Amino acid sequence: MPSETTDGVGVRVWDWPVRVVHWAMAVLLVVLVTTATIGGNAMEWHIRAGETMLALVLFRIVWGFTGSRYARFASFVRGPGAVSRYARSLSRPAHELHVGHNPLGGWMVIALLAALLIQAGTGLFSNDDVLAEGPLVRFISKDLSDTISGFHVKNAWVVVALASIHTAAVVYYLVALKENLIAPMLHGSKTLPATKAEGDETPMRHAKAVALFATCAIAVWFVVTRH
Ligand code: HEM
Ligand code: HEM
Repeated sequence: MPSETTDGVGVRVWDWPVRVVHWAMAVLLVVLVTTATIGGNAMEWHIRAGETMLALVLFRIVWGFTGSRYARFASFVRGPGAVSRYARSLSRPAHELHVGHNPLGGWMVIALLAALLIQAGTGLFSNDDVLAEGPLVRFISKDLSDTISGFHVKNAWVVVALASIHTAAVVYYLVALKENLIAPMLHGSKTLPATKAEGDETPMRHAKAVALFATCAIAVWFVVTRH
């Protein structure tokens, strides 16, 4: 149920799978870049963390079609008109408010998920010429694996750049635009003016989320344990 306060109405926006997956991805990205920078034996952990990231990204994509209202791609992937209208509103004192991702942020979510999917996917076929190799290297030639590894290393910087812009944008919203997007990503609710307050009232299907995540994890495990 929406709860009313003097600032507006509190509504449910982010379901727990969106929030748990989000913070797990943020932590894993730090682990991945750190282990890749250390190299050597740390690459064992890089590979484990990368495979976990792959399962999370796959789950988030499936959840984008099957999850709760604001988790769905259909609710936040908008055309160029909506994006430019939103971008123009940012220069006005009161910018457009959105319950879920705003039209600009929606495309950042797509970019992040696509870059992470490509990164984790190429990791499976990468090798470091010393100890570490992804679990699917044995199925392709050394030359192809070297080419994919080169791409994996370059694309890592695309991922890091997108995540940095994303984090900087969220901080900009907090400091300059006085819109706190971080708290809802922690507890799941937003406080909005009554006219905008259309929360997600559909019951959360916990078992469905757990079953879908288990399916993604098992699919990744199945692929990475092929010998
Ligand atoms: C460093 C790695 C990070 C990655 C890969 C990442 C990725 C993402 C993704 C994929 C989403 C979409 C959530 C969804 O719909 O499932 C998202 C949203 C969000 N992230 Fe991150 N994130 C990162 C770090 C951070 C950090 C450090 C913060 C806080 C300072 C943050 C705050 C948020 C917020 C507030 C949203 C919701 C934005 C909105 O309301 O539209 N993220 N992030
Ligand atoms: C989003 C997930 C991932 C990120 C952000 C990431 C990041 C990186 C980075 C920054 C490097 C460069 C290390 C260097 O400077 O040489 C690297 C190398 C490597 N990664 Fe990943 N990685 C990810 C997923 C994976 C996965 C899933 C695997 C395998 C299962 C993997 C296997 C490797 C291997 C074998 C290398 C060595 C490549 C080389 O040195 O040419 N990575 N990764």
